[in-house]
Amino acid sequence: MSKKPFYITTPIYYPSGNPHIGHCYTTVACDSIARFKRMQGYDVMFLTGTDEHGLKIEQKAYEKGVTPKEFVDEVVETFKKLWKYMNIDYDRYIRTTDDYHIETVQKIFKALYDKGYIYKGEYSGKYCTPCESFWTDSQLDENGCCPECHRPVTFAKEEAYFFKMFPFAERIEKLLTETDYLRPKTRATELVNNFIKPGLEDLCVSRTTFKWGVPVTFDEGHVVYVWIDALSNYISALGYMNDKYNDFDKFWSADVHMVAKDIMRFHAIIWPAILMALDLPMPKHLAVHGWITFNGEKMSKSLGNVVDPFVLGERYGCDAIRYHILREMALGADSSFSNEIMINRINADLANGFGNLVSRTVAMADKYFGGTLPTEREADALDEEFKSTVVSVFFEVEKYMDETKIKQALEEIFKAVDRANKYIDETEPWKLGKDESKKAKLATVLYNLLEAIRIISALLSPFMPTTMPKVWEQIGASESDVEYGKLSAFGVLPENVTVHKGEILFPRIDVEKEIEELNSIIKKNMENAQSELSAEEKGESKEIELAPEITIDDFAKVEIRVAKIISAEKVKKSDKLLCLQLDDGMGGRQVVSGIAQYYTPKDLVGKKIQLIANLKPVKLRGVESFGMICAADTPDGVKVIFVDDNIPVGAKIR
Ligand code: ME8
Ligand code: MG
Repeated sequence: MSKKPFYITTPIYYPSGNPHIGHCYTTVACDSIARFKRMQGYDVMFLTGTDEHGLKIEQKAYEKGVTPKEFVDEVVETFKKLWKYMNIDYDRYIRTTDDYHIETVQKIFKALYDKGYIYKGEYSGKYCTPCESFWTDSQLDENGCCPECHRPVTFAKEEAYFFKMFPFAERIEKLLTETDYLRPKTRATELVNNFIKPGLEDLCVSRTTFKWGVPVTFDEGHVVYVWIDALSNYISALGYMNDKYNDFDKFWSADVHMVAKDIMRFHAIIWPAILMALDLPMPKHLAVHGWITFNGEKMSKSLGNVVDPFVLGERYGCDAIRYHILREMALGADSSFSNEIMINRINADLANGFGNLVSRTVAMADKYFGGTLPTEREADALDEEFKSTVVSVFFEVEKYMDETKIKQALEEIFKAVDRANKYIDETEPWKLGKDESKKAKLATVLYNLLEAIRIISALLSPFMPTTMPKVWEQIGASESDVEYGKLSAFGVLPENVTVHKGEILFPRIDVEKEIEELNSIIKKNMENAQSELSAEEKGESKEIELAPEITIDDFAKVEIRVAKIISAEKVKKSDKLLCLQLDDGMGGRQVVSGIAQYYTPKDLVGKKIQLIANLKPVKLRGVESFGMICAADTPDGVKVIFVDDNIPVGAKIR
């Protein structure tokens, strides 16, 4: 019988900076679900990757003096290194710079255009460059800045393609309110009220202001703007509209897309709309988790307040980090990251709780029976109650995992851990061990403990995949003993099982010492990030940043000619603009220039200037401008570059 397919995805992350604990959360959560499903016998496709196009990456690369591809290649290596470090077992890694993905995006864009869902228009609004986002006025923060990174926004306007959202509004509302797509479903109201009820706005899906993107095949100069490029990854990675893979029929539609709330809207509204436009089935579930915050702020690359997962993993082991973040975060809610809570949790749950349960049990089997249990048994009601509690945990965990509720699943498993430790206190094996007539009773208790550990550790293995095989070694469990089908009943380990004492699974951490050290690391990180940020923001950098290199042919495209200013007057209702009439040696022309704050007409008339003579005409405040005059930006304002009077009008500057 062929296995049932299960397809789960993380967002594809921006490699604009190194990954932090927030990215770890989603990836670890998906990895745990993927591993759980594999354990249940599904044929799993677990996809992750990176979203590598866009202005921000183009700029970062430029700052570093490398090409965008070189820049992302390096960051992607760090992402992959982290996933290896965190023991992430993904099946496929997609990069949006992969050829097959680019080809797919181009075909999807064209298909949507041909179907009439994409049309050409003009985009304008407040734009935040670092976040690559247009914002409406009502979305800006109290200072009129970007609501995400709180940096200043600029007004921007450009020709762009748009994706029609209106035709899908009704179906999307139904998807959100009447199906089990959105998890938690409580978020549907907010989406419907904020976006669908006021009327869905068409989505801007192309840009002309940067080059680092997937080119629109039928309109040179346009590149596909982030969301069609990014969201398509979920199907291009399966081979939709490309020959690279052939898994689309098998794995689509996705069982779980997991994201944080920052990109919920794109996955709850826009992605369904794109799929509807392509006549494809809807994904089954969108699991939305909250933000990991640090000191109340969302951890993010632009803010730089990162807690480096490499640092944490090195100190406590990747399983402890995996456990902590999964245990902290409930679907939907935010969770504040605190080193103190993390360390206390590792100590309480992993060192004292689970680790201690394993080491005590194995040590007692060793001490009282030389490591191998005798086969006589003597059970009573307490033992039966204990067994049924542990088994009931199995069914609870199964249910929560079906609902992508990882935190609750872990809470259940740790109920079994607590119950097992309590069972030791209740049965007092150290007393039984002293009484020769209680050997059968003692063997029963230890066997039940080993069985409980077998079930618990198997259930924990998707979450802590590095440590659990060590547990199986210690309790004498074979690979087949921890198969999923054997976790709902006791009696799987051989009656005369042999244990093997091993290393301490989770060493206790000295809380105060660790907190102090971690705090100093974080402080240093934040200072570094802060100083980078402020130099950039205040324009303190002494280094002059040049635009990307051009060739002499590029330069030759600019026609610079000497011209003479014949007259000048202020443009009505504008403080900044002067309207100049020029003698350009070609019959004269009009140019509007933003120099009214620095020059009066009498400063200018009769002077010769440099004219950019082949610039596309524009209208400024309703006045037509045919070219531009050259000026320099100086600390004292704008200075026009005047040309020596003995150079004739019309002379070409090169
Ligand atoms: O949005 N807490 O990429 P991104 C919890 N490329 N999760 C966090 C987090 C935090 N503080 N910070 C990041 C993008 N994440 C797009 C996605 S998908 C087609 C395109 C996780 O690098 C969380 O999963 O900004 C969030 O949704 C994602 O990283 C955003 O990653
Ligand atoms: Mg983001």
